Amino acid sequence: MTTGIARLLADAGALPPGWQSAFDTVRRADFLPARFWAWCNESGYTPLIDRNATGEWGRQAWDRAADEDLVLVTQWDDGDHTGDVRGDNPTSSASAPAAVARMLDALDIHGGEAVLEVGTGTGYTAALLAARGCRVTTIEVDAELAERARKNLARAGYRGVVVLTGDGALGHPGGGPYDRIHVTAGVRHTPGAWLEQTRPGGLIVMPWGTYYAGPDWTTVLTVHGAHYASGPFTDPLAFMKLRAQRARWPRTSFPPGWMDTARVSEPDIDIADITGGLYDPVEFVIGLHVPQCVPQRVDHPESVNLWLYGADTGDGESIAVAAFGDGYNPQALQAGPRDLWGEVQTAYHRWADAGKPAADRFGLTVVVDADGTVEQRPWYEAPDRELPPRLRNTR
Ligand SMILES: C[S@@+](CC[C@H](N)C(=O)[O-])C[C@H]1O[C@@H](n2cnc3c(N)ncnc32)[C@H](O)[C@@H]1O
Repeated sequence: MTTGIARLLADAGALPPGWQSAFDTVRRADFLPARFWAWCNESGYTPLIDRNATGEWGRQAWDRAADEDLVLVTQWDDGDHTGDVRGDNPTSSASAPAAVARMLDALDIHGGEAVLEVGTGTGYTAALLAARGCRVTTIEVDAELAERARKNLARAGYRGVVVLTGDGALGHPGGGPYDRIHVTAGVRHTPGAWLEQTRPGGLIVMPWGTYYAGPDWTTVLTVHGAHYASGPFTDPLAFMKLRAQRARWPRTSFPPGWMDTARVSEPDIDIADITGGLYDPVEFVIGLHVPQCVPQRVDHPESVNLWLYGADTGDGESIAVAAFGDGYNPQALQAGPRDLWGEVQTAYHRWADAGKPAADRFGLTVVVDADGTVEQRPWYEAPDRELPPRLRNTR
């Protein structure tokens, strides 16, 4: 009989073909800690739900949440957080079941595949893969979470799943080749190791995005050897990022002295043109054109400032601010080697001129150069139509 998450997904038409038995067999509740915070909506309302507590957020709420399409946050601030009130940054969770199902569908599993999962979290996804007949190795960067997942998997009868503690960006050297690499944390730079460890023809499925936009797009790369992988963006999803790939440079002021040399220009677009809802493609697509740049919007009573911070990619940092308000002309000020505002504006115009295409008309190619440098090359419509910038990282 179909129950719990399987029923929820089936009712929503979101149960991927071939996955019913796995979702029926693996109980999400078996992978949840006694306390978690339910991410109830985009405003970040996150009540603590405690199985051992009485009252509104006690046992019944816990049982209900386990079978709902909710992100359940199981760790804040890399484990530094204590207490009942939510922490600052969610750093581990049981992902929302519909997102788990969509990603598993993209993985194109037939049974028997060797799968490397990056981002073990609770162990729930690893159990689903094992229940579907895959040989699963999973890596979690946080030792305490990895240990908990190991226990969850063993208790639920999935002793065959190998749980490793370590940086999943390195993959599992010596463990491959894998038929699939399944990444359940947001990626900004696809590591070369994943291409090396996937057999030719195999898939890497990951939430990929840039520092410019919060949400990512599911990206399905087909691997053609250790030096080349390519594939489309399919659908949007918001994921916690790989630990080493979080945006960490937002800045909303110019350092002393920078204003003296700031360049002034007048924007020819409005702030509303380049900001959208959570899954609006505009910021994602701008990010494909504007590498290594973190935006920060600051709302004032009568104006909005959009700060752009460009990381030092060899010739120094760049900062820009575009100010928009009632009763005065918008103005952009910028300093540093990059023309960040110009880059954003050009990206917007290119996208608008093309008819504002959806993000799934874009895709990504990852190339590993002979010296180990890895290039992330976004494209439009086809891999041979690369967008101008290439995002680089060394492995
Ligand atoms: C959204 S959770 C994954 C949910 C998980 N698949 C599940 O079924 O519960 C993301 C996980 O990725 C882990 N993570 C972040 N960076 C990592 C890295 N570099 N290597 C391995 N795991 C990482 C986090 O600690 C977190 O547990």
